[in-house]
Amino acid sequence: MVLKSNSKVLTSLTPFFAMACIGSSRLCARVEKLCQQSGHFAQIRRRFTTTGVKLHQESQRPVTSLVQQCRQQNQTTPRDHTFSATRAMSSMQTQQPGSLPDLHVDPYRLLEDDLKDVYDDIRRELIMNTTVDELKTIATYYFDGQGKALRPMVAILMARAINYHKERNGLLPSQRQVAMIAEMIHSASLIHDDVIDQSDFRRGKPSVNVLWSQKKVTMTGDFILAVASMMIARLKNDDVTLTLSQVITDLVQGEFMQLGSKETENERFAHYLTKTYRKTASLIANSAKAVAMLGGADERLADVAFQYGRNIGLAFQLVDDLLDFVSSSSTMGKPTAADLKLGLATAPVLFACERYPELNPMIMRRFQEPGDVAKAFELVHKSQGLEQTRFLAKKHCVEAVRLAQSLAESPYQKGLIVVSDLVINRMK
Ligand code: FPP
Ligand code: MG
Repeated sequence: MVLKSNSKVLTSLTPFFAMACIGSSRLCARVEKLCQQSGHFAQIRRRFTTTGVKLHQESQRPVTSLVQQCRQQNQTTPRDHTFSATRAMSSMQTQQPGSLPDLHVDPYRLLEDDLKDVYDDIRRELIMNTTVDELKTIATYYFDGQGKALRPMVAILMARAINYHKERNGLLPSQRQVAMIAEMIHSASLIHDDVIDQSDFRRGKPSVNVLWSQKKVTMTGDFILAVASMMIARLKNDDVTLTLSQVITDLVQGEFMQLGSKETENERFAHYLTKTYRKTASLIANSAKAVAMLGGADERLADVAFQYGRNIGLAFQLVDDLLDFVSSSSTMGKPTAADLKLGLATAPVLFACERYPELNPMIMRRFQEPGDVAKAFELVHKSQGLEQTRFLAKKHCVEAVRLAQSLAESPYQKGLIVVSDLVINRMK
């Protein structure tokens, strides 16, 4: 069912899923079945069998620079741009300090002027749309500049890269608005998410639901969304309106999907991937597509932007799901080991299940019985689930780099490539 209704998403996801499953024959057999159902078996199998072993071996090594890897695959000789290599005060640190020397581009530094007022401007938009003081306070609470600003950063990099590709310079005001709208939709969804998850902490401070009542917090999420909708309307571009509205329907559906679980392992992975696209990747993909459309991209170019965002978004969420098992709460600024406690079986568990089938009943009962969370946590660490998750994330980053490389070479196009390194190597 999921495959049928989301065949476009899943068709493009399955090759990477397949590759991540190398080394596990039963899971591979199920992947083949998934691919057959989606009607692209032959093509996927070819990629699966020809590149799989090499990629698996590669996954055993520490993560190396994706940029380097993709450079080796790309025959064209890029022009040599030298930009400031000093890394800005980015909260997306890499695990390997040497993972960015290749391009000498720091997206945060590159976009310093574009990004520095984004949060002030969002706060101003929110404040001028209400006379209720408490609503102003709650609505602006998460726009304190402490986030990673991944969504505005990707939107602006893509906008500038597309403009350059179309032999234009600069950033259109409408494209900057999309960057702000993306961050607003994201924060509105986090506010709702914090109520649903009853979370305590976000971005290193008490989450909104701890400080204010559920009723007020929920309505504030709606308010932010309403202000974002007005900003979308002001763009006066029906295609962009449709593209960004799609994000909101995806977010809600993704969150709904997360409340349910599937019986079989096959269904579970397909369900997880679609949920991940809708909950995380759709916003990044569709805002990248929206800025591309505003920059005059044709359908093919807008799809490059969309696919880039989709791959970055999927990788980002896979790494998030991985960090939930390996990072500390103080590093993340939010509780870790949280997914199991919330009853969620993310990629590391789904992969671990292949090696430890005793996880299946735990997944079905959403880790509710005493000892389930601790046992599942232990089994995930004993299995290859974490490596397989990172491997799958890396494949999406490699694909994002390939897509970025199809754009004309510019500082911003290089920034898009570097973002994939930040995503795969991030620690928080
Ligand atoms: C974080 O998930 C949550 C999201 C990425 C999206 C949540 C979407 C909704 C609540 C639907 C409503 C949407 C709108 C726009 C009002 P997480 O719990 O996995 O991550 P976390 O650890 O950061 O909380
Ligand atoms: Mg949450």
